[in-house]
Amino acid sequence: MVRKQIEKLLSDAIKKLGIDGQASVSFSSLPELCDYQSNSAFVLAKQSSQNPYELANNIVQALEKTEFFTFEVARPAFINIKLTQKGYNHFANLLFQDERCGVKKLSNQKVLLDYGGANVAKALHVGHLRAPIIGEALKRLYKFLGENVISDVHLGDWGLQMGLTELQLFEDGELDYYFSGKGKEPAFTLEMLNQAYPKASARKNQDEDFKKRADEWTLKIQNKEKPYFEIYKKIREVSVKEIKKHYEELGAEFDLWFGESDADQYIGKALDIIESKGLSRVSDGAVVVDVAVEGENVPIPKKSEEEVQRYKNPMPPAILKKYNGGALYATTDIATILMRNSEIGGLDRIEYIVDARQKNHFVQVFRVCKMAQISPADQKLVHIGFGTMCGNDGKPFKTRSGDNIKLEDIINMLIEKAGQKLKSNGVEYDRHLALQIGVAAMKFGDLSNNVGKDYVFDLDKFLSFEGKTGPYLQYTVCRINSILNKAQEDGGEIIIASDDEKEIVKNILKLNSSYEVAYKEKSLNNLCLATFDLASAFSTFYNNHKILTEKSDKKKASYISLLKLVRKALTQALAVLAIEVPEKM
Ligand code: ARG
Repeated sequence: MVRKQIEKLLSDAIKKLGIDGQASVSFSSLPELCDYQSNSAFVLAKQSSQNPYELANNIVQALEKTEFFTFEVARPAFINIKLTQKGYNHFANLLFQDERCGVKKLSNQKVLLDYGGANVAKALHVGHLRAPIIGEALKRLYKFLGENVISDVHLGDWGLQMGLTELQLFEDGELDYYFSGKGKEPAFTLEMLNQAYPKASARKNQDEDFKKRADEWTLKIQNKEKPYFEIYKKIREVSVKEIKKHYEELGAEFDLWFGESDADQYIGKALDIIESKGLSRVSDGAVVVDVAVEGENVPIPKKSEEEVQRYKNPMPPAILKKYNGGALYATTDIATILMRNSEIGGLDRIEYIVDARQKNHFVQVFRVCKMAQISPADQKLVHIGFGTMCGNDGKPFKTRSGDNIKLEDIINMLIEKAGQKLKSNGVEYDRHLALQIGVAAMKFGDLSNNVGKDYVFDLDKFLSFEGKTGPYLQYTVCRINSILNKAQEDGGEIIIASDDEKEIVKNILKLNSSYEVAYKEKSLNNLCLATFDLASAFSTFYNNHKILTEKSDKKKASYISLLKLVRKALTQALAVLAIEVPEKM
């Protein structure tokens, strides 16, 4: 809001001077000197071969009169801008009156976000944590900024794990009812699945025959043969119920609960399109599409006979059909894009929030879709690859025995640790509250890192009620709520009197511009930081000012409004980050 206004003033002055160009303004990198700065005189002077310092002075001379800002030229050619007292008052009240605290909408694109990715029949684990955290926040950010967003959980429910799980259950005698008519119809439970899949998965690595049979079994499910497909549907139901519970605890909400299996009806069509365009070929019985571009897949000459062929910048072909005709991960992703474009349509972007290690998979899928025109040329397909969650040793977060930690265990750990924290603060234990705080700690700890980077999952640090943490932000809002409840007053015009209050206004303006940064970078770390900075500016103000006992009615009314403004700006940001604010803590 303010930055744009200053840019407009400067740009008008530039125009007046007969120079073709726009001004750009940023927050000051030297806050003790000024609030905003512009380096445009450097850029424009170069273009028109003028002296930059003179040009900066000419621009400032040509400015239209304003009561809200002062402009000053500093050598070599910076334009330093400060908000005046009037400016602070004016903008604070504008922010206060605005329904969105001054945050403007940016785009009206239609976007599909794919960010769940839990797998049916397998227990969710630590690797499934970041997608719902980041995806939910990006979804809310895009919506808040005006986009039409559809979220799809895209369950992994059409792969080898189904065949493995069923085959194992069969061998353990759990499926006798279906195959030999003996006994009762089994009631599938989560425990059964949690046992069967890991057992089968370990076995497939050692037992070639078992793996082949699991492949066959998978194909039978994919061909919807009886009773394989019936059993699969039951297993899926048990699994999805559990997955829903976990996503709910994490506060991830999906518009669509589709899985890979829902794209099955589009697999044939997609393969036909690809084949009719001459893009696919058969290799060892499998159907593949070459996707490598120049500079990729360059063979490195063999040194010896034993050495296997190696490639520089490897980009293997996308495999769309297995030797036995079965569909693979890439096949269902391609078919899903065809489904989305046929059934939803008008999508400007499809974005995937998936582990960065799946980069090649998405490169393959996107290239096939573009070559086959399954995705229109002007549609953006984006993989937002996230980094790995690491333990304190900097290595991927694992159990002592080296297994992936189950999501359920992580959630229980969050609740337990947050509960202990509450107890030590003298608050009565409440599971819901502990979950709210634990999840907030984890989310803020996650989102305050750049999405693409690995980070250390340090729960004790994340759970602190002080510093850059989720609980600190929750606590700040609770504190404001409690003051406003005690005050029971409407508030009045905001009059910015002290530096502490100026800092609050500046930090709200910074927070507001960080939405755009988050949107452009597809990462929420800046927004997290700006939210924290506002909370800490508030704390400073609160420590230095008596609010409830303020004698001047006018001043007190201004404080109350300022508090309401801070609360709104904070809750607005926390809502985007999908961090809940408890009633009290
Ligand atoms: N199920 C996959 C996994 O666990 C993630 C799915 C991501 N989404 C997608 N459209 N491929 O790795």
